[in-house]
Amino acid sequence: MSPIPKTAPFAEEEIDLLNRVVGTASPIQRAWLAGFLAGVDASGGLLAPQPAAPAWPAEPLTIVYASESGNSEKLAGDIAKAARKSGLKPTIIDMADLELSALTSAKRLVVVAATWGEGEPPARAVRAYNELMGEGAPRLDGVEFGVLALGDTAYAEFCAIGKKIDERLAALGGKRVVDRVDCDLDFAGPAARWIGDAVKMLIPPNAGGRVIEVDFGAKPAASPNTDIVEAEIIEHVDLNSSRSDKETVHLALAFEGAAPAYEPGDSLDLYAENDPDYVDELLRSAGLTGDDKLRAEFIKSRDVTTLSAKTVETYAEKTGHQYVKALIADGQVKEWIAGRQLIDLIATFPIALDAETLRALTRPLAPRAYSIASSRREVGDEAHLLISAVRYESHGRARKGVASNYVAERLKRGGRVRVKVKSNRHFGLPAPDKDIIMVGPGTGVAPFRAFVQERRATEASGKSWLFFGDRTFTHDFLYQLDWQDALKDGALTRMDVAFSRDTPEKIYVQHKIWDRRAEVVEWLDKGAYFYVCGDAKAMAKDVRAALVRAYADVKALSPEASEQVVATLEREKRYLQDTY
Ligand SMILES: Cc1cc2nc3c(=O)[nH]c(=O)nc-3n(C[C@H](O)[C@H](O)[C@H](O)COP(=O)(O)OP(=O)(O)OC[C@H]3O[C@@H](n4cnc5c(N)ncnc54)[C@H](O)[C@@H]3O)c2cc1C
Ligand SMILES: Cc1cc2nc3c(=O)[nH]c(=O)nc-3n(C[C@H](O)[C@H](O)[C@H](O)COP(=O)(O)O)c2cc1C
Repeated sequence: MSPIPKTAPFAEEEIDLLNRVVGTASPIQRAWLAGFLAGVDASGGLLAPQPAAPAWPAEPLTIVYASESGNSEKLAGDIAKAARKSGLKPTIIDMADLELSALTSAKRLVVVAATWGEGEPPARAVRAYNELMGEGAPRLDGVEFGVLALGDTAYAEFCAIGKKIDERLAALGGKRVVDRVDCDLDFAGPAARWIGDAVKMLIPPNAGGRVIEVDFGAKPAASPNTDIVEAEIIEHVDLNSSRSDKETVHLALAFEGAAPAYEPGDSLDLYAENDPDYVDELLRSAGLTGDDKLRAEFIKSRDVTTLSAKTVETYAEKTGHQYVKALIADGQVKEWIAGRQLIDLIATFPIALDAETLRALTRPLAPRAYSIASSRREVGDEAHLLISAVRYESHGRARKGVASNYVAERLKRGGRVRVKVKSNRHFGLPAPDKDIIMVGPGTGVAPFRAFVQERRATEASGKSWLFFGDRTFTHDFLYQLDWQDALKDGALTRMDVAFSRDTPEKIYVQHKIWDRRAEVVEWLDKGAYFYVCGDAKAMAKDVRAALVRAYADVKALSPEASEQVVATLEREKRYLQDTY
């Protein structure tokens, strides 16, 4: 069902609630609701609530999701839908809002958990996750549960968080009624099958007659690729100077007709193609040159760079290669694959492969997400992206990130690219009168360009403060003119910059936050929202730590008390992150 539009005559939170309930309701439930409401209207609103047969027996199912980019959240909705059709009454809880006491009273529990960082929980889920893992976690004796784990086999800690939650629920006395499934990026099929199995296992015996069979095989609940649109590149500009050692492309996309509906804070999934030179080298190493159809398929739709432990196992299994088998037997795989790609495996342990084997060593090429750097209210039917070309060297070989180099090296003005909006309702702007502090070094600044444009277009009265950082002022000041204009016209109230390579001592955004700590705390005390976007590995953690120290210093608090202040900001959803 299409969601209730934001223009509906309800408050934003009410629209969210309605979408949760109505959006996942079965056709029977929606028909009942429509009839009920029509009846209320026909009787002038006086109709008493109908005690007729309840739409579902009161057999609850608690669904908890731990999500960063929305996949687990979407699957939680799919589970709720399937559960309703089977006569259960689902309640969906974002792990960000989870109180562990809700689990003790749950009879049936499903957790969908993604893994982020290097084997870490999604940022919003950290607090509840730590509580669950901590000594104070309550017993869950008898709670029937199942865990669906989301991840990416390219990461060493594949599905680590789902695995840990699954183990923990069992250790706390929970009864696993369906085995965990660990999903890779192409999760739609496996997740849909798991949902089907899980719901069947969770239905209480007395609901037998009410079970509605759901054919997940025919139409995966998490069916991807529904809203991919083609866009034309109308601007393609490297925002770094020619003397920078970085290349960061500003890409303006135009759509035929209206731009897909996006809001500040949303991202675009971009469907890239592989570097033909890399694919040629791969096919040569595999002894598969001369097959143009295969070459085209591998350029367009296979992930030809990722090397996971699973790939190595498949290679050993399919080829019987003695050295690869030895690598596995010696427990050396994890170490060997670090910093290497599929090409290294085939070039180091060469053996002639057929097309089917090479296909089995690869997975579908996944899109890459890019924060949208524009507001439709300012740019109309366009969407802007800010993309940094990923280039590095490892094991003596020059490497290039697939999508960022597709954009930097092969997309040109006038060319076309496929994209899809990935909405992020957890990283939106607050009410126009609220102040915002934005911390976005490097490409992390992209969504804040959208925020500033939106605030200008809506004449928002709240103040806006941007912390930006990069390597050098002269060569790496991304969107410098935009910020200058915004400071002039008032869309941006303040800006602090940190250029790490302009001074002998490296200065980063967290140092600037520390320098300005009194005012940062003052803004937050007056209700400001604090946003962080960009690097998850170091920056986001350093910024949070700087804010904790800022509170301790400004308010003379203990480290524990200032940690609590920041944790409260997170709970209040005034400390928001979109990091990668
Ligand atoms: C919600 C979200 C928003 C994002 N927004 C933006 C944005 O606005 N702009 C932007 O540029 N990116 C953004 N990204 C990141 C983007 O999605 C891609 O991950 C990035 O562009 C790299 O993709 P790629 O295909 O070029 O590289 P890939 O082919 O995916 O290669 C990247 C991989 O290469 C390896 N690698 C990279 N550097 C090194 C190194 N130095 N040493 C060893 N190994 C290395 C790592 O394994 C890394 O995972 C965002 C990501 C998310 C999840
Ligand atoms: C920056 C980043 C880090 C990630 N780290 C891991 C990881 O350590 N292990 C893993 O299995 N998956 C990892 N993933 C993959 C995500 O778990 C996967 O994309 C998942 O579908 C996201 O689900 P969500 O949208 O619910 O957050 C990572 C993805 C990104 C973008």
